[in-house]
Amino acid sequence: MSARHWSALMLGGLLFCAEVPASADGPAVQLASPDPVAGIWPEGEGREIARRACHDCHDPIVITASRLTAAQWSARVDAMLAKGAKVGDDEIDVLIDYLAAHFGPTP
Ligand code: HEC
Repeated sequence: MSARHWSALMLGGLLFCAEVPASADGPAVQLASPDPVAGIWPEGEGREIARRACHDCHDPIVITASRLTAAQWSARVDAMLAKGAKVGDDEIDVLIDYLAAHFGPTP
């Protein structure tokens, strides 16, 4: 293939890119989810608490890969609170229920 063909192809590529419409609220090419951590937390009450409070210090896989009972989660959350995790008093039970329900010994 000649150099001329290559430049025609490249020009075609450029035109193709320019033709992809840019949406009003962001770039034309978007991630499957606009929030890359959304997919790792199952739906449920407590999800937002976990996302807000449990990402600061370590990868959330530390949590999502765990299989603990409610009592163990309770102890673990207490330990995280002692380290500085920001969970409100009224959120702690919701969070523990959520963790135990989704990351329990038999999920
Ligand atoms: C202020 C920082 C901080 C925040 C916020 C935090 N953690 Fe941690 N977490 C740590 C540190 C440091 C370790 C590792 C050392 C350790 O286990 O003492 C850890 C380890 C863990 C582990 C695995 C180690 C173990 O002991 O089994 C789990 C599970 C865990 N965290 C859960 C949570 C949950 C759930 C939240 C949200 C409530 C959370 N963490 C928020 C600091 C934090």
